[in-house]
Amino acid sequence: MSERVRMAPSILSADFTDLGEAVRLIQDGGADFVHVDVMDGHFVPNLTIGPPVVKALKKVATVPLDVHLMIENADATVEWYLDAGADWLTVHAEACDHLHRVIRTIRGAGASAGVSLNPGTPVEVLRDIIGELDMVLVMSVNPGFGGQSFISRTVDRVSRLARLCADEGVTPLIQVDGGIDTSTAPLVAAAGARCLVAGSAVFCQEDPVSAMNAIREAAESVL
Ligand code: DX5
Ligand code: ZN
Repeated sequence: MSERVRMAPSILSADFTDLGEAVRLIQDGGADFVHVDVMDGHFVPNLTIGPPVVKALKKVATVPLDVHLMIENADATVEWYLDAGADWLTVHAEACDHLHRVIRTIRGAGASAGVSLNPGTPVEVLRDIIGELDMVLVMSVNPGFGGQSFISRTVDRVSRLARLCADEGVTPLIQVDGGIDTSTAPLVAAAGARCLVAGSAVFCQEDPVSAMNAIREAAESVL
């Protein structure tokens, strides 16, 4: 049997007047995570939601909340999101002064810890911390907005990350986020990604559940 690729639909592209329904729809349809994009208008040029909304989503979620923090100074506020119910919490390497400490805080609270890298950050910066991570999120667009085009260099970045993990003897979940659809999913899966975030290619489609499962099938078809 081929390996499984996990799907983390991003509710950034869902109807914000009915987020509860969006969560129910995708989890009933087989989503592995609910991907929640937190943006602060500083680290990225967009502003979305914060801890109160994460807390509200937690009430309807039956699959883990995968919270992607695109915020400055996560060092000071990471606990807000842990208290709000984040099951997996991902911070940006570029936005933390003390990345190692933040990771320890997340894991210390019993959550799973992820680190995300912008397209301009070499994956090799994670070598000394990779053994402490549950997930690495490789951004395949510059973070801030849904609906952007996939940056093709990401495929090589994922391959290099997979190699780095093998060198270090560790197996964090490799997640890719941005511009993922049925044509880009197989490229990153073949390179080593095992969790895919998709926003517009799921929620901007007529049938979000079929769209999500088509992306998963496309990815798994190359494994
Ligand atoms: C972008 C966010 C993504 C976004 C992806 O900064 O981190 O999770 O929702 O959207 P698509 O899949 O439309 O590129
Ligand atoms: Zn995201």
